[in-house]
Amino acid sequence: MANYLRMRNQDLAGKRVLIRVDLNVPMVGREVGDESRILAVLPTIEAALSTGAGVLLLSHLGRPEEGLFDAEFSLQPVAKRLSELLNRSVPLITDWLNYQIKPGTLSLAENVRFQVGEMSNADALAQQMAQLCDLFVMDAFGTAHRAHASTHGVAKFAPVACAGPLLDAEIENIGQAMESPKGPVVAIVGGAKVSTKLEVLRSLIERVDRLIVGGGMTNTFLAAGGYSVGTSLYEPKMKQTAIELMQLARRKGVELALPDRVVCATEFSADAEVEIFAVDQVPDDRMILDLGREFTAKVAAELKQAGTIIWNGPLGVFELEPFAESTRLLAQGIAASPAFSLAGGGDTLAAIKKFGVAEQISYISTGGGAFLEMVEGKTLPAVAVLEQRNQ
Ligand code: 3PG
Repeated sequence: MANYLRMRNQDLAGKRVLIRVDLNVPMVGREVGDESRILAVLPTIEAALSTGAGVLLLSHLGRPEEGLFDAEFSLQPVAKRLSELLNRSVPLITDWLNYQIKPGTLSLAENVRFQVGEMSNADALAQQMAQLCDLFVMDAFGTAHRAHASTHGVAKFAPVACAGPLLDAEIENIGQAMESPKGPVVAIVGGAKVSTKLEVLRSLIERVDRLIVGGGMTNTFLAAGGYSVGTSLYEPKMKQTAIELMQLARRKGVELALPDRVVCATEFSADAEVEIFAVDQVPDDRMILDLGREFTAKVAAELKQAGTIIWNGPLGVFELEPFAESTRLLAQGIAASPAFSLAGGGDTLAAIKKFGVAEQISYISTGGGAFLEMVEGKTLPAVAVLEQRNQ
């Protein structure tokens, strides 16, 4: 159990409460494209308001240039959606560093990344934030891997700093799957590049019984195994690393499963003609865009025996229907398994949504980078500072 104060044990009544949330949601034009992250913090906001506290929410959106207002990164569309979901007006406060939080009110501060000093975690800015409140709640799990003024610095200076219910649930669920999971543990890691998932793969090999590698990374592993991958995207420089990962897996007794057949096409297109080849027979002018059906169907069926499943990253180009099959079979396999299943990462969430299995997954993280850093076994700075404050 993480050793920090929790919002649920604090007396919030009549207090000025500053809550850092992660409302960094995908936008479609000037509208919220996916509201999952907003929905995930509604219970926190409602719980705080139900005590009679006054609440000011802090969040970032995108990566604007510090010190400049840029309408493209304004949280106005998020304030609008939040107002609709909560059925009450949630004003967006531009000059929020001079704002006075009043009991019973709820407001959203404009993008914290418009402030100079946010990303460099400047003490002066963090102190200004801290003086706005009686109590700071960190509930932005998706940004907990960033040591910024609104995620880390403010927690040093606020009169009280505690973890919100979403952050706590994320830490407990991911921590449990990583530190004391029910076995056998199966991890499925997809993604384009071994280089970006290297630490995740290493950390998982230390912990799991079985590791399934999917996505573009598979090509690098196949190339490392001596197979020709045609025109597939892969990382020639990571071949040696892939060999070392396979050796590490062997030493640890971890089964690192790679497909025996792959789905190929001459181009990256939904209209492409699809052909299936054995991995040692991929023609020079074909690219690998999905794993073979039989392989994934077998993996999916075997998930019934797992105690814990950790999933990050699609197995193929699931956005294009001809290459969606293995990710679909995997998603359905995870949904049908009685194991504790944990999923995280932007593409993974999109796949879960596409295949309609969200209800059957035990825990879906709202984190992208933060989720991966936890799977890598790292301590998140925003969590570390809450623990330090509780020493
Ligand atoms: C995310 O979407 O992963 C978080 O909101 C963090 O955003 P950042 O990568 O811009 O810091």
